[in-house]
Amino acid sequence: MNAAHDPAAPPELFTWEFATDPYPAYAWLREHAPVHRTRLPSGVEAWLVTRYADARQALADQRLSKNPAHHDEPAHAKGKTGIPGERKAELMTHLLNIDPPDHTRLRRLVSKAFTPRRVAEFAPRVQELTDRLIDGFATKGEADLIHEFAFPLPIYAICDMLGVPAEDQDDFRDWAGQMIRHGGGPRGGVARAVKRMRAYLVDLIHRKREDLGDDLISGLIRASDHGEHLTENEAAAMAFILLFAGFETTVNLIGNGVYALLGNPGERARLQASLAAGETGLLATGVEELLRYDGPVELATWRFATEPLTVGGQRIEPGDPVLVVLAAADRDPERFDDPDTLDLGRSDNQHLGYGHGIHYCLGAPLARLEGQTALATLLTRLPDLRLAADPDELRWRGGLIMRGLRTLPVEFTPEKADAT
Ligand code: HEM
Repeated sequence: MNAAHDPAAPPELFTWEFATDPYPAYAWLREHAPVHRTRLPSGVEAWLVTRYADARQALADQRLSKNPAHHDEPAHAKGKTGIPGERKAELMTHLLNIDPPDHTRLRRLVSKAFTPRRVAEFAPRVQELTDRLIDGFATKGEADLIHEFAFPLPIYAICDMLGVPAEDQDDFRDWAGQMIRHGGGPRGGVARAVKRMRAYLVDLIHRKREDLGDDLISGLIRASDHGEHLTENEAAAMAFILLFAGFETTVNLIGNGVYALLGNPGERARLQASLAAGETGLLATGVEELLRYDGPVELATWRFATEPLTVGGQRIEPGDPVLVVLAAADRDPERFDDPDTLDLGRSDNQHLGYGHGIHYCLGAPLARLEGQTALATLLTRLPDLRLAADPDELRWRGGLIMRGLRTLPVEFTPEKADAT
């Protein structure tokens, strides 16, 4: 997609060029076909919602169910679309695949264990993990920031928080690697990794039940509401979704965030000056702006119409899949001034990067903590960090829901080996 694109025809989506920079195509859709029916690479037809106002409305509309059973797809294609939940694995009965009243009950229970306070108390641990990972490459003068930093940080952080023993965390790192490499499609590698993770989590929950600690899994086991507890399956599915929803998203927050800063030297210098002065305000607004500008979640997860409804003037039929394009909504000029400009101090920044409505990201406080700690520490310890590749050569992962780089090669003046 480029400026020469025929304005009468919809842009080609899901190409290599689109994966590299989807924003021109989204601008076209917002203007000419804001609720656009398209065939996805899996063959499924779905509506893409690209304007901010429509996106916000659709995210909060309870007539759009998260339960894949509402999908009207022909039976022969079932299980081949990549729509989560179609594989019927026990782990798939989780928050992102269910509606009220089950969703309300489970979300209330998990919120009792996964509290903002628990996250705040975790801050020193996130700082420690961040420093340990940077120690691993700081004296080399070069690194692949995805592989050596953005990828391991969230997996170790959430494993620690859940209470996965240190000696088992590399298994999680491997399983997560298989899931991310396969892009979430219904392929063998992912299914195997999910199965192993489930078996491990069920066993860990058994063990914790015997010996409750102050970790999050023990908190999930303890959490009760009007006499209700999570069943063992529900607790395993919950631990899984915390890992799964909190992992690749945070990898991409760090990866896309660093990449955006390296491409916007003025904003990066502004942030470094503010960090050097010991301020945290610009860091906080900056991470929100990075989520808006090039966030980790390109399309919100699936929704399916349960009855006829209208979004942005377009009638949607029962059973139709709807994908809300967060990345397009967050660049809508009707909502944001200069939407294509990165402004780390942007105020009035109600972006949709964490979603909206009852499925609003449960892990947002943890994601903010990790994003802020990662960026502040990198820019402070490696102040002359620069890209070590031509931006055109960087490869983006071609997943549907997520947007993130496969690698992010950087170079910098090495830290002295004896520096702490
Ligand atoms: C839901 C984004 C990190 C756990 C969501 C949704 C979005 C999102 C857009 C809503 C999806 C929808 O409505 O279809 C992000 C981003 C993150 C991030 C951009 C990082 C920058 C995390 C972390 C965790 C987490 C660290 C947990 C450890 C969840 C859960 C849900 C969710 C459990 C489902 C909530 C529900 O359905 O009630 N996230 N997320 N997320 N997120 Fe996050």
